[in-house]
Amino acid sequence: MVDDLLDLSQLDAGRVALSRRLTDVVALARTVIEPFAVRDGATLFPIDVEGAVPHLFIDPDRISQILENLLSNAVRHGAPGRPVVVRVRADDARAHITVSNEGAGIPTEDLTRIFARFERGKRARDGAVKGYGLGLFIVHELVTAHGGEIDVESPPKGPTTFTVSLPLESERGARANLL
Ligand SMILES: Nc1ncnc2c1ncn2[C@@H]1O[C@H](COP(=O)(O)OP(=O)(O)OP(=O)(O)O)[C@@H](O)[C@H]1O
Ligand SMILES: [Mg+2]
Repeated sequence: MVDDLLDLSQLDAGRVALSRRLTDVVALARTVIEPFAVRDGATLFPIDVEGAVPHLFIDPDRISQILENLLSNAVRHGAPGRPVVVRVRADDARAHITVSNEGAGIPTEDLTRIFARFERGKRARDGAVKGYGLGLFIVHELVTAHGGEIDVESPPKGPTTFTVSLPLESERGARANLL
C-alpha cells in the first residue's frame, strides 16, 4: 500500500521516472512468476513463449511491478487453485504479454472502469477479497509511460485475459524518442 501511494504521487505529478535498459522480458517474467508459483504450492504458473522475443528497452522494475500486479489479481480474483497462464510473443511492432485466469470473470460493464483509480469490480466489492482498486490504475499508467497499451477480455464462459503490449524499438530508436 505504501509503495502504491508513492507511485500514485508520482503518477499524479505526471512523471513516472523510467530507468530503461535493454531487457530480456521472458527471463524477467520467469523471475516474477517464481515466488507466486512457490507460495501457492499446487497452483501452476505455466509460461508459454511463442517464438523469439527480442529484448525490449524498458524499465525492468516497472515491468516487474506490472506483472506482479496482474499475477496477484489473477490469484486473488481468479478461481482458487487453478492455473494462471502467462504468454509472451512478439509481432513486427510489439511484444505482447498476457496473463490469463479462470473464474467468475469481469462483468462487461466493469471492463472499462477497472483501470480507473479506486475502481473495483462489482464481484470484488461484493466478495471477500480486500483491495483498494489501485493495482490496475497503476498498471495502466506504467504501461502508458512505456508507450504501450493494456487490454482485457473476459467473455462470459471464457478465461479473463489481460494483455500488455509494449513497442519493439531498437535501443537507438528508443533513446531518440526520449530526447
Ligand atoms: N484477473 C482478474 N480476474 C477477475 N477480476 C479481476 C482480475 N483482475 C482485476 N479484476 C477486477 O478488477 C478490479 C480492479 O482491479 P485492481 O487491481 O485495480 O483492484 P483490486 O485488486 O480490487 O485492489 P488492489 O489492487 O488495490 O489491491 C478488481 O476489483 C476486480 O473486480
Ligand atoms: Mg489488484
